[in-house]
Amino acid sequence: MSVSREQLVRAAATFGTPLYVYDAGSITAQYQKLTKAFSSINARFFYAAKALTNQAVLKHIGSMGCSIDCSSINEVKLAIRAGFTPDKILYTSNSVAFAEIQEAVSLGVFITIDSLSNLDKFARTYGNQYPVGIRLRPNIMAGGHVKISTGHATSKFGIPMEQLDQLEKLVVSYQLSVTTLHIHTGSEISDASVFAQGLAFLLDLAERFSTVSILDLGGGFKVPYREEEKEIDLKEVAQQVKIAFEAFEKKHGRSLQAWFEPGKFLVAQSGYLLATVTVLKPSDTICFAGVDSGLNHLIRPMFYEAYHPISNLSNPSGNLQRYQVTGNICETDDFALDRALPEIREGDILAIHQAGAYGFEMASSYNARVRPAEVLIQEGEQYLIRRRETLEDLLIQQIIL
Ligand code: LLP
Repeated sequence: MSVSREQLVRAAATFGTPLYVYDAGSITAQYQKLTKAFSSINARFFYAAKALTNQAVLKHIGSMGCSIDCSSINEVKLAIRAGFTPDKILYTSNSVAFAEIQEAVSLGVFITIDSLSNLDKFARTYGNQYPVGIRLRPNIMAGGHVKISTGHATSKFGIPMEQLDQLEKLVVSYQLSVTTLHIHTGSEISDASVFAQGLAFLLDLAERFSTVSILDLGGGFKVPYREEEKEIDLKEVAQQVKIAFEAFEKKHGRSLQAWFEPGKFLVAQSGYLLATVTVLKPSDTICFAGVDSGLNHLIRPMFYEAYHPISNLSNPSGNLQRYQVTGNICETDDFALDRALPEIREGDILAIHQAGAYGFEMASSYNARVRPAEVLIQEGEQYLIRRRETLEDLLIQQIIL
């Protein structure tokens, strides 16, 4: 644990639970790991904002020199508010109305388009006056769960290869300034060879698009969630890129830059969801430990069968017993099934680890339960970076008849 148990206990005591706590130091350490691993190649990193968009977190990431990848025009606007300049913002669009792409152009950010339909509208509107990236579907199955696999042969993402002829025609007839070819095959990719496969696919296409100088391999770097899991070997990924780029440059006299869009890698392990045990319910099968949070605050276990380590902050050296840690939402709502944890008493505070990515960001107010507060720990200080929602917040957009 990079943040100490005492710090988490203090955050819960100061700000109450349920509470998201992020450790800025962990984000910095992950970013340094990235830049170090790729130091021998021409690479740029765009933090995938969709993992966590709190302004304080975005500012911290911007202050490290990292660029940012946005998946909606509002994420682009949040990035601008956090101080990212347009030359550091990439907008990777999917199934968006063309008007959103026009807005992104007016903001001056990099744009990746992932359908012939929008690329055609883009070509007719801007011709070669604005650079553009193209997202392709490489038909690679990758990632930790089918719901987070995005490059396979039936995925909605990217332009399918059977439309390559049409794509080339469009690019040639409008002389499009295609700077970037992009793929994102999935999240939680542990095997470096998946990136090599994606790279081979992109290099093949780069030969056909002479204006391309950037290959964007997307995000998906695996970080461990279970103890026995390993982080992806970044040095191996970097080595593969280096070899492939050198060979390409030799053959075509064109040098390339690699872009990556890590989300989980930067923020997953920085985050903890703290919850208080409200009810213990022993049964003939297992003891349920009900907490004051649920799938409305962290949907990953119920949505992706995701595993999150849990620790009992209030009784770290208690005797191990088996629990089903459950939320308080009125449908099946588990954080952990049959998990050995130090003895839990009502009132104990549990920390759900690795909750920084797609935790708060996917939270909702289901069951009219409010979303948690968020705290950032930076150089030992604890800062409230989002107050807890209130009932009034739930009513504020409603028009009462
Ligand atoms: N780039 C693109 C185009 C993406 O679609 C994504 C994630 C990323 C980068 C960042 O991927 P990462 O490095 O975080 O794996 N809610 C799911 C994850 C969905 C990922 C969607 N796209 C979860 O909680 O596991």
